[in-house]
Amino acid sequence: DETKEGVKGLVDAKITEVPRIFHIPQDSLTDTKPSVSVSNLEIPTIDFASVHVDTASREAVVERVRYAAEKWGFFQVINHGVPLKVLEEIKDGGLRFHEDDPEVKKSFFSRDFNKNKFVYNSNFDLYSASPSVNWRDAFSCYMAPDPPSPEELPVTCRDAMIEYSKHVMSLGGLLFELLSKALGLRPEFLKSMDCLKTMLMICNYYPPCPQPDLTLGISKHSDNSFLTVLLQDNIGGLQILHQDSWVDVSPLPGALVINIGDFLQLITNDKFVSVEHRALANREKIRISIASFFSSSALPNSTVYGPINELLSEENPPKYRDLTLTEYTMGYFENGLGGASHLSNFR
Ligand code: SIN
Ligand code: FE2
Repeated sequence: DETKEGVKGLVDAKITEVPRIFHIPQDSLTDTKPSVSVSNLEIPTIDFASVHVDTASREAVVERVRYAAEKWGFFQVINHGVPLKVLEEIKDGGLRFHEDDPEVKKSFFSRDFNKNKFVYNSNFDLYSASPSVNWRDAFSCYMAPDPPSPEELPVTCRDAMIEYSKHVMSLGGLLFELLSKALGLRPEFLKSMDCLKTMLMICNYYPPCPQPDLTLGISKHSDNSFLTVLLQDNIGGLQILHQDSWVDVSPLPGALVINIGDFLQLITNDKFVSVEHRALANREKIRISIASFFSSSALPNSTVYGPINELLSEENPPKYRDLTLTEYTMGYFENGLGGASHLSNFR
């Protein structure tokens, strides 16, 4: 029952030492020494303001998106069309839920993520083969195509979730159009492959941590999605693995972080890259982030995916075999979130 109070429950109980299950194993050295290999590079920032101006400015944005998707797998977008107020409200709503009475949170507690309902959870990695547990509580909910009715969502965040997900869905439509064009395909191509059929929203809450060097907010992983839209607050801690260094994704007020997921790397035959990332724990501050994962139908999903035919040639033969997303996802959680990109198992 204790785990249902989450990591926040431990912090509220005023623990001064991080329990051993949260400790990063000594053999993952890159994770234990976050400061050694941090570079001062920044991921690209792309201004979407000009997308609707004329063809030439749209082409310029497509070119920047292509570069970012190929070389970084991550970029920040400003002037993305989601109003600032909507961003503030989802962060506030997420915070309100996580800071609500533990009894309320417990009423939403579940380990079953594939239900089409609101789920609160902490440390699901505890029950997988993950090497350590993350300093993080989270709630999640599929917000598209069939969101729960408002009454099934917590009052603290329901309006914010509904409003934010509407905006993120339409931004998703634009992103997949630009990504399709960046691949030299017609604008609707990725959408017609159901890349944004579902949207899973996960709101992460990282409580302050008394010994932040011993654990992680979220351990190194790549996303099992086609694309992820991430909203982070102004605390910082997100890092991506770029050319063997950890690169900070510095909070940029009003921006959204976009990253390529494993499935997009798969269907683009490695043209776009799904990049590993993690979030550090923080001694003083609470950190909130909201990740929206675009994918095909919810699991079990028997649609078969493989490298897109139109992208293949004699010089660019398929690097992956065909597989279903169910098959992919089953293995994804096998080693916890700590494992390296699971894609290589399908080469
Ligand atoms: C995630 O990778 O899902 C979360 C990253 C973050 O909290 O910044
Ligand atoms: Fe992630």
